[in-house]
Amino acid sequence: MTEHGTVAHGELKEALPVETRISPGAARIMEINRDAIEHPNEFWSKVASELYFSERTGPAFEEIKEAPYGRWFAKWKTNLSYNCLDRWIGTETQHKVAFYWEGENGDQRTLTYLQLYREVNRMASILETAGVKAGDRVTVYMPMIPEAIFTMMGIVRLGAIHSVVFGGFTAQALADRINDSKSKVVVTADGGWRRGKIVELKKIVDQALAQTPTIEKVIVVKRTAQPVEMTEGRDVWYHDAVKGAADYVAPVMVEGTHPSYILYTSGTTGKPKGACHSTAGYMVWLYYTTNAVFNITPKDLFWCTADIGWVTGHSYIIYGPTLRGATSLMYEGAADFPAWDRWWDNIEKYGVSILYTSPTAIRGFIKQGEKWPEKHNLSSLRILGTVGEPINPEAWNWYYRVIGKSHCPIVDTWWQTETGGIMISPQPGIATYPLKPGSGTLPLAGVDAAVVDEHGKELPRAEKGLIVIRRPWPGQFMTLWGDHQRYEQVYFSKFPGFYYPADFCYRDTDHYFWLLGRADEVMKIAGHRIATTELEDILIMHPAVAESAVIGKADEIKGEVPVACVILKPGHTPSPQLRQELLDHVRNNMGPIAVPSQIYFVEKVPKTRSAKIMRRLIRDVVEERPLGDVTTLEDETSVEEARRAYNELKAQIDKART
Ligand code: WTA
Repeated sequence: MTEHGTVAHGELKEALPVETRISPGAARIMEINRDAIEHPNEFWSKVASELYFSERTGPAFEEIKEAPYGRWFAKWKTNLSYNCLDRWIGTETQHKVAFYWEGENGDQRTLTYLQLYREVNRMASILETAGVKAGDRVTVYMPMIPEAIFTMMGIVRLGAIHSVVFGGFTAQALADRINDSKSKVVVTADGGWRRGKIVELKKIVDQALAQTPTIEKVIVVKRTAQPVEMTEGRDVWYHDAVKGAADYVAPVMVEGTHPSYILYTSGTTGKPKGACHSTAGYMVWLYYTTNAVFNITPKDLFWCTADIGWVTGHSYIIYGPTLRGATSLMYEGAADFPAWDRWWDNIEKYGVSILYTSPTAIRGFIKQGEKWPEKHNLSSLRILGTVGEPINPEAWNWYYRVIGKSHCPIVDTWWQTETGGIMISPQPGIATYPLKPGSGTLPLAGVDAAVVDEHGKELPRAEKGLIVIRRPWPGQFMTLWGDHQRYEQVYFSKFPGFYYPADFCYRDTDHYFWLLGRADEVMKIAGHRIATTELEDILIMHPAVAESAVIGKADEIKGEVPVACVILKPGHTPSPQLRQELLDHVRNNMGPIAVPSQIYFVEKVPKTRSAKIMRRLIRDVVEERPLGDVTTLEDETSVEEARRAYNELKAQIDKART
């Protein structure tokens, strides 16, 4: 067993007596974790002392007594873009590359910190001219191009709040998010490249804007140069506006708890939740976690493959690496374009040393075979990371062996949109210790994680339960935009005093945490969060659908894929055409990632007496398993009822399958 070795779960347990199980590296991590939990003020003030604040009045941390969450750097003043950029101007970092950018079509751009600083200032100036002021919301609907970085940083420079909407979302989803945040301005592009095809972003914006009264201006970046319609007085080309833009816009110093952005994510009801992050707590959390987990040194080239539309892109493409003065790669397009070795080609071409990606991507590569990575020299790699969903040991081992050549530690990072940054992960930036495939290992500084049962009672080691976080941490989101009550209800009411992430977890005898997937009605499709209810709401909008029940079915590559049981309204009959129509309906209303892998037309869906859909039971049927443990299914449902419902559904689905 090496320091980063592929220790099978359980091996370590047998090898060492209980008292000595904790390696010195792990003990060090646990000691730092406790120190930050016990002395939050001292610990986080010290971390923050490495960043710029125009004012440091009052404590770093204040506990809000009435509720189990805190306020970080509430009276301190700072600016996020200042810390990512201005802080480097005049230092040796100013001429260092901040981003290498690779377009899908092979276009390349390089931006030093000084160049990035200038472009962000110009974008801030354009936004200012468009009327954006501190506190205003700006929606960003952009491809993976450098202008997206200019935009996000330009917005926070003005003290305004960005709401980035993933470029794969539909006009309806975009309109809903614009309306919920009451954005004033949209920044978009004429289009983006994806597998050699154009994604018509501007056209989708135009459709969305037919229903968004708050938008005054649209700034459009030219990327693909295909013709787009520009609305006089509303739409402005970025390349025109930049000609008159100022080279410097003073960063607006805001209070620590001033919102930096809203990012919509799925909850258990159809309406997406606008997770709203702070400025200072979020910044300090990223500054700390980027170093602890990725250990980026001046020799490194960091590549996070996420899209800026997700929190991973926000935190570990845009803000974390630049707060550290690191050099990153940003890639615009698909992993299989023009062929399945595009990523490995990127790694060889640029000399990427730290790669951060998702289990779904890894499983996709496994399926294509080792011949693709073998074509390339990957010896620059030093640390590998994953995020977004549990990683199965097979994928972990392949990643470790085929990509990391058995010498790169894998940082399996567990966190959420709500947590702002990484919460549980190996931390090679601080100490090394044995890893286990599939475990995120130990919590970061100040993360007071525990595993509890349904009643909030801490469970003994190695028993599966729910993860909770018992103390506030700096990266904690502050509210759900426009709905603080829902924030308290969803996250803090299940176990009063604890933050509830809604994930299953167990902690092994070596103190390592194993994150086992969602405990609520949210699916993780290729790492993307989609609520089952969100999809049911969309299906029911179709005139032929009376009712639907959606579940996440285990999938070899994507982790989970949605499967829908649909009850048709009288007068409609099941047909392949109708099935296709429903699939298109989901694609057009929610986007391609939400499209069910299967739709079963049924006459009845199993429900409890209080009309809750019995998803676990449906999953058993769909995955062709015998009925699982029903005693914990629903208190109100008898084993007999569950068995009957299972058999009924099975008969219907068997019929639908033939
Ligand atoms: C899941 C992504 C296991 C988990 C940053 C969480 C993980 C949800 C891991 C958040 C991991 C994320 N191991 N599960 N390393 N990382 N998850 O908001 O279910 O898109 O609650 O944030 O992803 O998804 P989100």
